[in-house]
Parts: sequence; structure tokens; C-alpha cells
Amino acid sequence: MKVVTTLAELGDVRATLPSPFGLVPTMGYLHQGHLSLVRRARAECASVGVTIYVNPAQFSANDDLDSYPRDFDRDLRLLEAEGVDLVWAPADEDMYPPDFQTWVKVEALTRPLEGTHRPGHFRGVTTVVTKLFNATQPDKAYFGQKDAQQAVVIRRMVQDLNFPLKVVVCPTVREPDGLAMSSRNSYLDPQQRKAATVLYRALTAANQAFSAGEREAEVLRHIMSEVLSTESLALAQYISVADPDTLTELTGTVECALLSMAVYVGKTRLIDNMVVGDKGSVIGEK
Ligand code: PAF
Repeated sequence: MKVVTTLAELGDVRATLPSPFGLVPTMGYLHQGHLSLVRRARAECASVGVTIYVNPAQFSANDDLDSYPRDFDRDLRLLEAEGVDLVWAPADEDMYPPDFQTWVKVEALTRPLEGTHRPGHFRGVTTVVTKLFNATQPDKAYFGQKDAQQAVVIRRMVQDLNFPLKVVVCPTVREPDGLAMSSRNSYLDPQQRKAATVLYRALTAANQAFSAGEREAEVLRHIMSEVLSTESLALAQYISVADPDTLTELTGTVECALLSMAVYVGKTRLIDNMVVGDKGSVIGEK
């Protein structure tokens, strides 16, 4: 496994890697969710690269950029064990040189849900992902369903800007009690960690209601809200039943939907989602 930081080193190593080349972009502090993306890439591609970069442009002033968990040596050990060929940990100077002023912005899809509560977040994501794609030239790029809106936005960007690559979205990996894996789970104390399962419980309740025939968007939202309100340590920021393609909020009868939420457990903001209906369990997969 080659570990590089500069663009020049990256170019040299990338030139030696066989096609198809699969890329897994990450912000490090890897967990089984990331490793499931790496394994999928390993299974589908002749060579695999992982980027590790905590992208300052997708954090706002109130976010947790400084405290975001990092453990580079552990990440490298995990990636080595997965048979990864290349790890690129870019330097800030290469990603955002002092006179940097070019941004990639996806429009309507970035306005609702996370976009409403994290202004500028997706502009940071799409800009850095563009730079990662340009520098590594992947044939396939792997993202998790856990960040459903991110996956939809990146798919759109890839289509709109004619990136010659396929976006692969992989299912959310959960702890045995249902909590979606996330680097931010490490912020939770034991009591909060227990409370955090409420996101999964709320989504599961709505999913079960849908399976039992419930089709009213308002009722599905209400079911999630009721379950969340049973947990005193949890405070919902949004609860959504949205169109999985356009991400617009749905009302009335729904045939398929992205159920999603952002919930504070203490100071930690957690997100989770499930897709219900005939569009498959992973966003954008028909
Ligand atoms: O999902 C993430 O970890 C990040 O948003 C990404 C895609 C690596 C861009 O920084």
C-alpha cells in the first residue's frame, strides 16, 4: 500500500495502478461503514484508492472541525489489512491554496434537509470531491447511504459535469443495536450512546408502518416524531419524508420516500435515513 501526500507523488503512483480504479473518499477515523465501501471497491475494481482528508470547507464556524476525530496510523493499519493500493492524504495547501476562489455548487438538491441547517456544507463537499476526482481519475467512486443527500448531490454533479465515472452507493452499516456507524458516534458518552438508538427506532417504526400499508407522509413523519419524543436526551432538528430523487418534502399519499432526520443527542448531531417503497433500499438505485 502506497501512502502519499503530494499531488506529484499521487500522480506517480496512480499511473502504475490498473483499471478499473475505485476511489473511496473519506475524512478518516475509519469504521466498518468505510471499510464496507473499501470491500465493495476491492470486489469490483482492479485497484483501490482511499483519500483521507478532513475537509475544512464543509464545516461551518459552529461545526466540529477542530475536534473532529482523527487517527491516521490506525486508519492506515485498517486500510493495509483491506488490501488497499493507494492512500492519499492531501495537504491543505494543495486543496485550498491561499488564493483559492473556485467552487462547485449543485443547486436545488442542496437546499432542503442538511442544506437548510448546514449552509455551505454541500458546496464544500462537491468542491473537494471534484478535486479528489480530478486528481485520482477514478472509474468508480463509493459513498455511503448514511449520507443520503450527499450521495444524491454527488450523483447529480457527476452527471451534470460529465465526470467519466460511476457513483456507487452502499448500504448503511449499523451497530448491533441499530445505530448507524459514524465517526461522530465517538463523541457520545455511554448514556447518550444508548439514547442515540432512537434514530433507528424512529425510522424502523415508520418503515414498519409503511410496510403495513401506511402511505400518508404526515402520518409517517408523526410516527418518527412520536418515537423521538420518548427519548429525553434527543432533540430533533428535522424529520423528513421526501422524494428520494428530488429531495423535496412530500405531502399526502406517497409510493416511495426517503425517511430522514437530524437529531441532537447532547451536543452531537446525528443523521440517519431509510428508503421506503419501490425505489430500492439504497438511494438512487432503481
Ligand atoms: O462523506 C464524507 O466523509 C465526506 O463528506 C467526503 C465525501 C469524504 C468529502 O469530504
